[in-house]
Amino acid sequence: MSVFENWTDEHKQKFDKEILSVKHNVEDSGLFTDEALIALLDKHPHNMLDVCTMGDHELYPNQFRTGDFRDCDSKTLLKAVQDGKLWINVRRAMNLHPEYKALLDRMYGALSARTGITSFNANGGILISSPVAKVPYHADKTHVVLWHVRGTKRVYVYPLTQEFMSDASYERILTNTLIDDVPYKDAFDEKATVLTLTGGEMATWQLNQPHKVVNETFCVSITTEYSTRKSGFKNAAMFAQSLQRQKFGANPLWENTATPSKMVKSIFGKVIKKTGLYKSVANVDYVTFKVDKTVPGYIADIEPVVRNF
Ligand SMILES: [Fe+2]
Repeated sequence: MSVFENWTDEHKQKFDKEILSVKHNVEDSGLFTDEALIALLDKHPHNMLDVCTMGDHELYPNQFRTGDFRDCDSKTLLKAVQDGKLWINVRRAMNLHPEYKALLDRMYGALSARTGITSFNANGGILISSPVAKVPYHADKTHVVLWHVRGTKRVYVYPLTQEFMSDASYERILTNTLIDDVPYKDAFDEKATVLTLTGGEMATWQLNQPHKVVNETFCVSITTEYSTRKSGFKNAAMFAQSLQRQKFGANPLWENTATPSKMVKSIFGKVIKKTGLYKSVANVDYVTFKVDKTVPGYIADIEPVVRNF
């Protein structure tokens, strides 16, 4: 059975170079019904599951917050997302469970057949999110494909220029493992391409293009990502470029760098990463609430503790 329903040569031309969306039938697998998601949450390892919220809390205004979900059964957890302000990221769900892995292989097999690109080696997570969930303006370090399955969400994708994300902002993402957001202004939206995705649509864009996501309803999506020589090369080189900027006060610009210099930067970047001369900053993840079905909105604040599950 084919995964895509309306793929044309135009999609092939645009893949990885422009913003594109195409219809898919991933939902027909039956792996994304409420029952299937509850079974998935039951068996997924706790350390690969994130339950989060963001909102107008006085202590954490518009801050991304992590919750403790361990006392909550999977059925209630799903209901909390459908009713409330939570979202769940089932990290690497598409790789860790055989039935989802079989589907992931089918999805990327179809992409390979359609694009001619053979080595994807993709990772995939499942995002189960509430009507009020937002993914703020950010850029990803690897190639990302969004396979929307249930509900309606709007995806804003912005031009890949210094105005929308400076090299310095991108280097900051590369050198800090827990940061992926970049400075944002409301006026950016005027130049965004807005995709309104309903269930059964896949969207993708150019490597590193900044984007944000707004849910209109309860949503289930798969996000898959893969690295290529192109993303590996650029990330290693930009890593070296961040050292030029931070340690030597230079102001290099990636788009003005000639190809031979890019290659030197890339090799240098791989070397400094390997030797540990440049340490990535790893932020500590704090848990600031507990999912509690006896509380309206299911969010019970707790004293912040470092996540240990
Ligand atoms: Fe993203």
